[in-house]
Amino acid sequence: MTPPIQHPAEPTSNAARAAVAGVEPRSLRTFTPSQAVLAKSAGVYHWTPEGRRLFDFTSGVLVSNLGHNPTRWTRRFFDYMGWPAGVSDVAGDYFPAVAMTAYNAVTPIEADAGRRLVAALRREAGGARMEQVMWAASGSEAIQKALWAAAARDRTRPMIVATRYGFHGKKGLANAVTGSETDAERDARVRFVTFPTTECRDVALRGAPFDPAPYLKELDALWHQFGRRLGTFITEPYLGGGGSYHPPKAYLQAVQGWCRANDVVFILDEVQANFGRTGSLFAFTTYGVEPDVVVLGKGLGNGVPVAAAVGRADVFAALDYGEGSDTWSANPLNCAAVLATLDEFEARDVIGGMKESSAVIERGLVALKEYPFVAAVRGEQCGMVWGVEFADHAGKTAAEWANAFVLAGYQGDGAGGDGVHLLGPLSKKVVRISPPLTITPAEATAAVALLARAAARLTPA
Ligand SMILES: Cc1ncc(COP(=O)(O)O)c(C=O)c1O
Repeated sequence: MTPPIQHPAEPTSNAARAAVAGVEPRSLRTFTPSQAVLAKSAGVYHWTPEGRRLFDFTSGVLVSNLGHNPTRWTRRFFDYMGWPAGVSDVAGDYFPAVAMTAYNAVTPIEADAGRRLVAALRREAGGARMEQVMWAASGSEAIQKALWAAAARDRTRPMIVATRYGFHGKKGLANAVTGSETDAERDARVRFVTFPTTECRDVALRGAPFDPAPYLKELDALWHQFGRRLGTFITEPYLGGGGSYHPPKAYLQAVQGWCRANDVVFILDEVQANFGRTGSLFAFTTYGVEPDVVVLGKGLGNGVPVAAAVGRADVFAALDYGEGSDTWSANPLNCAAVLATLDEFEARDVIGGMKESSAVIERGLVALKEYPFVAAVRGEQCGMVWGVEFADHAGKTAAEWANAFVLAGYQGDGAGGDGVHLLGPLSKKVVRISPPLTITPAEATAAVALLARAAARLTPA
């Protein structure tokens, strides 16, 4: 058994970490040196069992875009489920409400969630491709269903083009289009092309002239080799798990043009970018494209596990009864969560409200570049997601610096006061910054000050 992570002066947290290490395999988590124990949470804050307050700079993993336990969202979620506010006062063994599972049946909230999600996507997209919803319970499952449908549309075109070092999930076909051709056991249907990471190494390169020609040339070369066997193209608006690379808009526009010219199904994986991260409700608006299928997840349910592939009806029509079904897809809890999320984004200007905090955080992160162990900062302009890349320095690897920073952020001022909750690095060297969109400018200011002090503490006097 891997020894459990332990920290000084955290007896209750240490006991919880040890208990988990005893009954769960370590593979269930990616390595995060803090391994915070979260006793309760509200808005941008978590509290440890010892009562320490942590600014959540992860939103779970870009899930709780509206903050933790938002009151209005939760009230709506209860209302959609028909749950009484004070369930402890209910007499009897059962109470009438929406069923928590409705497999192969239909609930009115499923009809509403699908209709409203399509309407929201259509409003943003301006085109006619957002027609139908293929529900799923996780991002990788929704990716799998999108890829199944795209391949079924024309079974003579089974090959998929994916952008190198993307992340689409760890299961099945989602894993097959993740990473690169050098990963073990590649799926013979998948070919990888270059994502323009060199053009987006740092926020300082934003707006620099960009020529999509070399990227189109790679796609043309594949077309030359495989022709109409290529049926699907999949990418992310920005490489998330691959290390936070936010490309020029012209890149996505160019690949969309290539897909349309060759009748290739364009799948955009917005599982982590959706619901505001890029400064628009959907990232395809930020990037000025309309994919054939957009894949949603994470923030879609603000914490309730739900995902969906949404797009062209003719693509989804290629799958027959049962080919996209499973126990949890479109279950009422999912649908109530989606409706509550849509309500919240429609009732108030969540995205407009985050702009000032976004600027505060970006300034604070860019200031970290004064430290020799911070190599770059990347992120969405006016959005709520960045990656801070660490460098090899003073005999320590980038991964060691990144992990030390995550731990120093967790320790805050080191005296049992506030800290910042971060996850272990992406690609071994990039620490992702993704607080809830609802973080206020004052909260953002306090949190980036804690990060600055964490960086200062890592510098030898
Ligand atoms: C862009 C992207 N696609 C797909 C996934 C997979 O989602 P899930 O973990 O819900 O299967 C993720 C998860 O991080 C993601 O970031």
